[in-house]
Amino acid sequence: MPLDHYCVMGHPISHSRSPWIHTRFAELTGQALVYQARDIALDHFAHSVQSFVDEGGRGCNITVPFKFQAAALASHTSERALLAGACNVLTFQDGQVLADNTDGLGLVNDIERNLQLPLKARRVLLLGAGGAAAGVLGPLIQAQPSHITVANRTVSKASSLVARHQVLATLQNTELLALDLHALEGDFNVIINATASSLQGADVPVAASVLKPGALAYDMMYGAGAQAFLDWARQHGAEPRDGLGMLVEQAAEAFLIWRGVRPPAAQVLTELRQVLDQA
Ligand code: ATR
Repeated sequence: MPLDHYCVMGHPISHSRSPWIHTRFAELTGQALVYQARDIALDHFAHSVQSFVDEGGRGCNITVPFKFQAAALASHTSERALLAGACNVLTFQDGQVLADNTDGLGLVNDIERNLQLPLKARRVLLLGAGGAAAGVLGPLIQAQPSHITVANRTVSKASSLVARHQVLATLQNTELLALDLHALEGDFNVIINATASSLQGADVPVAASVLKPGALAYDMMYGAGAQAFLDWARQHGAEPRDGLGMLVEQAAEAFLIWRGVRPPAAQVLTELRQVLDQA
């Protein structure tokens, strides 16, 4: 059977676990495909997508720094990718380029399925209002928490992100607020770190009083980039969780779009953790 070709495009890309994850999904579901990583020069993104289409590529994942460009070059963009303003999945079909964003659903699935914590009626705090936060806010609202506060160092960015999602939040009966990080009050069941503060070596940019005992403290990164936040959460009695499950779950949603088959994401997450622990 001929193999269908997929890839992940980004820069840098050598660290990407997506080839491992999708290759494992394909093995476990019996799908005949090849998935590779492509390092793309910064000014070559559109050209590289076209080359992959011309080679017969069926779809690709998009990672930093091309998620915004990918949304712009598509011929059709899903509602969730429009709301996020960014895209992490392209599908090439009948001469069309279809853009989608599975990051937010990946996060929600990791929390609700893998951690078995339903978000409905919870109080959620989303830290950050950059690209990572924008990618997840829509699906978080769709999980119908009673309340979401988006808190950011630059409060105007939180306000515009909230304004863009207000109609959806009203429909889902979720109260949505934008706040300055330093003006935060109240306690939350779920705190999600979508800031880049730890990458810059800065302290966790929020007071520990936002954590309820036993709250879930989720960092969307994994590895060294998540460590400071996870340590802080543990020290203050919260349940820490890194973003490895989100990575695998967003990949599972992309695989489902491309292949029409849901891969066993929880099993692959367990295996990937073992691989990383042994590395
Ligand atoms: P990404 O795509 O990773 O979200 P981004 O769009 O540059 O990257 O957004 C980075 C986020 O981390 C922003 O919310 C940023 O806050 P500002 O909007 O105020 O810049 C946040 N961030 C970065 N460094 C931070 C720090 N030291 N303390 C608090 N927030 C920080």
